Amino acid sequence: IQIYADGADLTAMREMAKLPEVTGFTTNPTLMKRAGVTDYLSFAQTVLTEFPTMPVSFEVFAADEAGMAAEAKFLSQLGPNVYVKVPILSLDGTPHLNLIRSLSAAGVKLNITAVTTKEQVRWALNALDAKTPAIISLFVGRVADIGEDPTDFVVCSSTMAFRYPNVQLLWASTREVDNIRQAQQLGLDIITVPPAILKKWYARRDLSAADVALDTVRGFAADIAQLGY
Ligand code: E4P
Repeated sequence: IQIYADGADLTAMREMAKLPEVTGFTTNPTLMKRAGVTDYLSFAQTVLTEFPTMPVSFEVFAADEAGMAAEAKFLSQLGPNVYVKVPILSLDGTPHLNLIRSLSAAGVKLNITAVTTKEQVRWALNALDAKTPAIISLFVGRVADIGEDPTDFVVCSSTMAFRYPNVQLLWASTREVDNIRQAQQLGLDIITVPPAILKKWYARRDLSAADVALDTVRGFAADIAQLGY
């Protein structure tokens, strides 16, 4: 499985790019807001100058299809490694299938985002052009957040996408380190992981389960000492 770093904080992106496992990036409007990005174009240009060969996903900001199409074409010509994120649904819940069909047919590499059902995956697969590379982002963590088991969604999506070699399925909304193993086991191509989770994985991945017990009791002992006992 390929591992991307999920975030728009340039300092964290630089740090994550040094990890040999990290081969690409994903951003979204919320992550950009959180990172304090105020100038989208200069942010995108900096990212693409510093990481000219790593796949990077940038999302359209417009809500209307004409605006989205114009932004998608603009973003896509910024670099050969750009994937343009287009949400599967419009703000009124209608799928953006005509937009996806026309952009993909025009050679724009898309990342279909905010996908939470296998029907949406089927729609996207049908709309994407067979010759243009594309990513479909399964928001697995957001499905799990409502208390639903996302396994069927992921497995069915992976089975459907098998016949579309130009399409990569990406596990998004990663919530914990173990999602990396799950994504791999369920046949996904990519998982995008927030820097905090990647750091936790790096710090602890050489421990055995028994080491974790020892680490835990030592942690309790240290806290007991701090309590003054
Ligand atoms: C990445 O491509 C997604 O936009 C991101 O993983 C979404 O994460 P969230 O659902 O935790 O906001």
